[in-house]
Amino acid sequence: MEKQTDDKPGVYARRRAHFAILFFAFLAVGLFLWHPDDLYLWIKALHIIAVISWMAGLFYMPRLFIYHTDAEPGSTQSETFKVMERRLLKVIMNPAMMLTWILGLYLAWSLYGFHGGWLHAKLGLVVLLTGIHLFFSRAVKTFERDENRRSARYWRFMNEAPTLLMIAIVILVVVKPF
Ligand code: HEM
Repeated sequence: MEKQTDDKPGVYARRRAHFAILFFAFLAVGLFLWHPDDLYLWIKALHIIAVISWMAGLFYMPRLFIYHTDAEPGSTQSETFKVMERRLLKVIMNPAMMLTWILGLYLAWSLYGFHGGWLHAKLGLVVLLTGIHLFFSRAVKTFERDENRRSARYWRFMNEAPTLLMIAIVILVVVKPF
């Protein structure tokens, strides 16, 4: 019987991700050609959808690392975590991060011409968030080679970083305090 950790479902997951990215790209190009008066609201909606997908991955990945740390290297459990981490990174997090950046930069340019203290602060925090993304991406490769030396407690601590950054980013963009 086929298991979700086999190669075939992985190929399907990648295909679905490519289809979703293509759908997003067509939607964005279609919107630019159609150019409705409320174009920026459509782009903002797509930006928020991409943000939610990216954040879901940033919250879930360290949870996987916590359980993976306790799994015996070479065990079925450990190999299953490897597949879950790889697919979460490649199929959801990487495309969602790129879309968040592209659409966010378009909004920052078209609505604010890159001006505003809140926008600069938000950009700074999103750069930090991207740094965490890259750090998790390297950790996926370290776990893949069974070379993780960090404790479950460490990953539990790292779980909080995206949460704190997300709270600050949303307050900055919605309240625009400066
Ligand atoms: C990647 C770089 C990003 C840039 C350049 C960017 C820029 C922007 C801009 C210019 C807006 C429009 C604000 C307005 O309508 O007044 C916006 C909306 C928004 N962004 Fe981002 N953003 C980025 C990433 C993120 C991230 C990582 C999050 C959440 C963790 C986020 C959450 C939001 C939310 C919730 C809105 C809607 C705010 C509202 O309509 O009041 N953004 N973004």
